[in-house]
Amino acid sequence: MKTAQRLTGISPFFVMEILARAKELERQGRDIVHMEIGEPDFPTPPKVQEAATRALRDVDIKYTPAAGLPELRKAIAGFYERKHGISLNHRRIFVTPGASGALMLAMGLALNPGEGVLLADPSYPCYPNFVRLFGGVPRALPVDETSEFNLSAELLNTHWAPSDAGIILASPANPTGSIIRPNALRGLIEFVDSRQGFVISDEIYHGLEYQASSHTALRYSDQVIVINSFSKYFGMTGWRLGWAVVPESAIDGAERLAQNLYISAPTLSQLAALAAFDDENIEELERRRQQFAERRDVLCQGLIALGFLIPAKPEGAFYVYADCSRLTADSQALALALLEEAGVAVTPGRDFGLHQPERYLRFCYTASIPRLRQGLDRIANYLKHHPMTVPS
Ligand SMILES: Cc1ncc(COP(=O)(O)O)c(C=O)c1O
Repeated sequence: MKTAQRLTGISPFFVMEILARAKELERQGRDIVHMEIGEPDFPTPPKVQEAATRALRDVDIKYTPAAGLPELRKAIAGFYERKHGISLNHRRIFVTPGASGALMLAMGLALNPGEGVLLADPSYPCYPNFVRLFGGVPRALPVDETSEFNLSAELLNTHWAPSDAGIILASPANPTGSIIRPNALRGLIEFVDSRQGFVISDEIYHGLEYQASSHTALRYSDQVIVINSFSKYFGMTGWRLGWAVVPESAIDGAERLAQNLYISAPTLSQLAALAAFDDENIEELERRRQQFAERRDVLCQGLIALGFLIPAKPEGAFYVYADCSRLTADSQALALALLEEAGVAVTPGRDFGLHQPERYLRFCYTASIPRLRQGLDRIANYLKHHPMTVPS
């Protein structure tokens, strides 16, 4: 088959190659410490599992309305009320197949072909691909520790072009775990507003914060599109469930897009997710968050002791974006060597953009502390036998 031209712009994830090779090594009997995958290692929370089992027994699983089960949309609205003190019309909430489905909805709602979308480099690799799929032009702006790896209003002011239509923000961010400070978030939204642009705020790592909590962009504007998901904080990756909050004026368009793109998000997952907001479940998720915080500290300390630099301590998500420039000039080669020779899987910076990817490796702390320590020991051993390849 002759595939469409648009595919030429869609890049694969290098992490998938790492994962495939790691699985192959495991089949050959090797033990691999996985720090490459952005997926919580905890099982689906028990309350959610029980709700799914009950639903499977008692409910005939059919399509739901395109925007999702009204009771789930109301439960999500209640969550914003409790957590952020924001009262939302539940009709603005669209339940989607993961944050991925929500991003698709957002692009379909906001972006015209040929328009530019500003995003941070490094950032989540799918953002530019979603922009391209909808005919837009991703414009990645290099960020580093001087802006805590975040976009800023100053950066937008310098780079915004007449053909730009909006921005994608993420806080806490993948791959850096950085959080946009409340004033900076307000500044970004005000800047884009002054250009009549759109803001897509990816809040998928909300709840996974270890110092200050994140503010939702909804606090500063009711014109933003907010993306969120049950995948990360709620620990439900495989249930493929997320949501988008859209402005009142976009409800009708979102309804039509949702109907056409996916009819409805998975019904069983929606019924299960109704239990996600129960107090008992939130208590379990908070215990998990505490464990993530402890893991983060162990991993950061361990990496620094090995010679990695962590220019901005990650404050959220479950990632450490570590600078390995004192150890190698080529993070991808180091990632491959760590996998083959040390049995540790990590993701090289090249998955997240073009800004100095050779300097960085992303480590996920989605493994237990004993496993993380084992991974660190293996890296230490590897580095002992392969001293620094870069002259200082
Ligand atoms: C920043 C970010 N946004 C969106 C997604 C998509 O998540 P999902 O579709 O599982 O909800 C991910 C997944 O890793 C992510 O890291």
